[in-house]
Amino acid sequence: MKNISIFGKGNMAKVIAERFTKAGNEVTLYGSKDEVTNIGDIVILAVPYGALTTILEANDFKGKILVDITNPVDFSTMDALLVPSDSSATEVIAKAAPAARVVKAFNTNFAATLAGDTTTSVLLASDDADAKAELTNALDGSHLNIIDAGSLKRARELEALGFLQITLAIRGLIGWTGGFSLSK
Ligand SMILES: NC(=O)c1ccc[n+]([C@@H]2O[C@H](COP(=O)([O-])OP(=O)(O)OC[C@H]3O[C@@H](n4cnc5c(N)ncnc54)[C@H](OP(=O)(O)O)[C@@H]3O)[C@@H](O)[C@H]2O)c1
Repeated sequence: MKNISIFGKGNMAKVIAERFTKAGNEVTLYGSKDEVTNIGDIVILAVPYGALTTILEANDFKGKILVDITNPVDFSTMDALLVPSDSSATEVIAKAAPAARVVKAFNTNFAATLAGDTTTSVLLASDDADAKAELTNALDGSHLNIIDAGSLKRARELEALGFLQITLAIRGLIGWTGGFSLSK
C-alpha cells in the first residue's frame, strides 16, 4: 500500500485515483485552491502543462516518484507541442525537480478509457527503473496493463503519440473513448 497524492481533481485525476484505490492504495487529491498537507510516496501531476511551474515551485518532491501525465499541446494552434522536439514535458520537469524520480505515464490514455475496470495499456518512460517498478507494483490489481516503454527520452515519443491521438479525436476519426491499442 502506497500513499498517492494527485494534483488535480479533473477528468484524469478522478479515473487515475479510482485505479490506485482499486489496487489498495490511499489516495489524496489536491485542487488548485487546496492546501497541500502531505505529499505521498507517489505524486501524479494531473494538471494542464501550464500549471506545472507553480506546483514545482511550491512543493518539495525530493525522493518522490513524480508522475507526469501531461500532453503539452499548443491548444492555440493545435499544430505543435509546447516543448522543443528534442525534449519533452517530462524532461522539463526532471530538470526543474532534479531530486524527484520522474516518470511519464498515462498520457496516451484518454480519461474515458481509464474509467471502470477495462483492461488497457499504460506506457511508462523513465531513467529510474526502480520508480517504474514501484509504480507498476502500486497499480497491481487495478486491471491496467503497465508497459515499460524505456528511458526518460521515450517520453518524447509518448507525447508525440498522445498529440497524434488528440488530433485524430478532434477530427472525429476516433472517439474520446478510443485511442491506440497495443497487442503483443
Ligand atoms: N483528459 C484526457 O483524456 C487526458 C489524457 C491524457 C493526458 N491528459 C493530461 O492530463 C492533464 C489533466 O487533464 P484533465 O483532462 O484531467 O484536465 P481537467 O479535467 O481540466 O482538470 C485539470 C485539473 O487541474 C487542476 N489544477 C490546475 N492548476 C492546478 C494547481 N496549481 N494545483 C492543483 N491543481 C491544479 C484543476 O483545478 P481547478 O479546476 O481548481 O483549477 C483541475 O482539477 C493534462 O495535462 C492533460 O494533457 C488528459
